[in-house]
Amino acid sequence: ASRGADGGPVARGDGEAESAPSELPQQQFAYWVWVSEVMLQQTQVATVIPYFKRWVTKWPTVADLAAADIDTVNTLWAGLGYYRRARYLLDGARFVVEKLGGRFPRTATELVKIPGVGPYTSAAVASIAFGSPAAAVDGNVIRVVSRLRALPGDPTKLASTHAAMASELLDPERPGCYNQALMELGATVCRPVNPNCAACPVRGACRAAAEWEAYLAAGGA
Ligand code: ADE
Ligand code: SF4
Repeated sequence: ASRGADGGPVARGDGEAESAPSELPQQQFAYWVWVSEVMLQQTQVATVIPYFKRWVTKWPTVADLAAADIDTVNTLWAGLGYYRRARYLLDGARFVVEKLGGRFPRTATELVKIPGVGPYTSAAVASIAFGSPAAAVDGNVIRVVSRLRALPGDPTKLASTHAAMASELLDPERPGCYNQALMELGATVCRPVNPNCAACPVRGACRAAAEWEAYLAAGGA
């Protein structure tokens, strides 16, 4: 079994089904993924890491969180901002324990019924923890997809087109890897300004890069 660079669990080891995390039982892994995705929604990874570690140390399972009180939850959250997210996690955990027998459903369609779990989070948990083929579409993914397919117009106003395109591009065999790769690409390489196309692993499949090169070859810029 493998561990991440920081000693945390990884979702996938060599030859191991993506839906079977190497270190945690799948249901517990789903809970950890959910917590991390909610924390990462408005907060940088480096800021989230110590909060995440404290959180899963204090409440390692969804049942532990469901039994917590809101004041303790808010205290542990202090400094992360957007405090509604802490309430959503607590309410969601109680829903899972009280209404779903303490088990996370395996599809985005079912996960989205948990209070506070939206389309992005449900798809992230379904794909990363359960290998279910759902595209997790956040702002980074919309930008990357709009470039890969050279979709015209303002990406912030065409979210449904981009979500459909992200679903079309999704690798149904490895949806969790696909989703996280797109997010990571958007955060590190296909940045909002000055995308690093020269170092991009999918440059050969990118229509925006191809159109840009054709423009330069024709003597543009
Ligand atoms: N940002 C938020 N969630 C992420 C994930 N699962 N992988 C990479 N970047 C992320
Ligand atoms: Fe983004 Fe450039 Fe890569 Fe295309 S080639 S996905 S624009 S970084």
